[in-house]
Amino acid sequence: MPKISELFFKTAIVFLILGIAAGLQMAISGNHGAYPAHAHINLLGWVTSAIFGGYYALNPTKAARTIAMVHYGVYNFGLVVMLPALYLMLHGNPALEPIVATGSMIVAASVLIFAFVVFSAETARSVSGMPAVPR
Ligand code: HEM
Repeated sequence: MPKISELFFKTAIVFLILGIAAGLQMAISGNHGAYPAHAHINLLGWVTSAIFGGYYALNPTKAARTIAMVHYGVYNFGLVVMLPALYLMLHGNPALEPIVATGSMIVAASVLIFAFVVFSAETARSVSGMPAVPR
């Protein structure tokens, strides 16, 4: 598996553990007020990251590009800014909204980077340096 896929999956499983912890906390406390944070930790942190990892595993040529690592870095930086702020905002800290908004914009920018990766052509050479087999 390409390194970038491994990184996305390792990060994704950390978010799944945190997302499930937030879900259990809601279920046990009976206070479901932070459910949007729980949903975003699971869907952006776990599901979307795993899809990114799967995409790069299926496209090793693109996985080897520098832009894939830029995508990973910007996406996860955005999540680390956005998700804790969203969770705390929903627990009675409305002043954190600008941080949630900033993190959201960073996440959105990283998705545009991924869109560029998806729409760009594969390079002429494979990861091993051998010429890519024409399809
Ligand atoms: C042990 C694991 C989990 C627990 C205990 C849990 C618990 C909860 C609870 C208590 C709510 C609030 C329900 C409400 O007030 O309407 C909720 C909502 C939600 N959860 Fe989870 N959850 C878990 C795993 C997941 C996973 C893995 C995902 C996604 C991959 C997920 C996605 C969502 C979504 C999208 C909502 C919002 C649903 C709505 O708006 O009606 N949850 N969860």
